[in-house]
Amino acid sequence: MGVLSESLKDRIRAYIPKYPRKQAVTLPALHLVHDELRTVSNEAMVEIAEILDLHPSEVQDTMTFYAFFKGEGEKLGQTRLWVCRGLACMLRGAYELIEHCEKKLGVHCGQTTPDGKITLEFAECIGGCDGAPACLMDDKHVMNVTPEKADKLIGELRQ
Ligand code: FES
Repeated sequence: MGVLSESLKDRIRAYIPKYPRKQAVTLPALHLVHDELRTVSNEAMVEIAEILDLHPSEVQDTMTFYAFFKGEGEKLGQTRLWVCRGLACMLRGAYELIEHCEKKLGVHCGQTTPDGKITLEFAECIGGCDGAPACLMDDKHVMNVTPEKADKLIGELRQ
């Protein structure tokens, strides 16, 4: 038995008619798997390759091109908390905010809290410069993040 459920495989297969070649489904497939399993293990890459008639190394090539994906031995927490450190955010305290979040969570950027709830990461401009410093909680923007506001968000995410 593999790591991809039948339902997940079906969702990957559903993309195939929408693209001119199966290989073009690699990226959407990686996103589907990553969202659901919070990682793309080597076994998952092999299963994606089987569905798309590719060699596993082709899936791996695509996946490792993007630092976005977590691979074998890495796993995202329930929520991915990105702290922007782009120019606008940096000028408004992003580095201090990152340091504050690292202390509060007891992890460094790129790591997941031991309870598996939060993965802390930094980003380079998330399109919210007018609300700098800004964060992303998965896909949701949070603007004007002070250390106090970060503490409140982290408290909510930990519940
Ligand atoms: S620099 Fe942080 S949102 Fe643009």
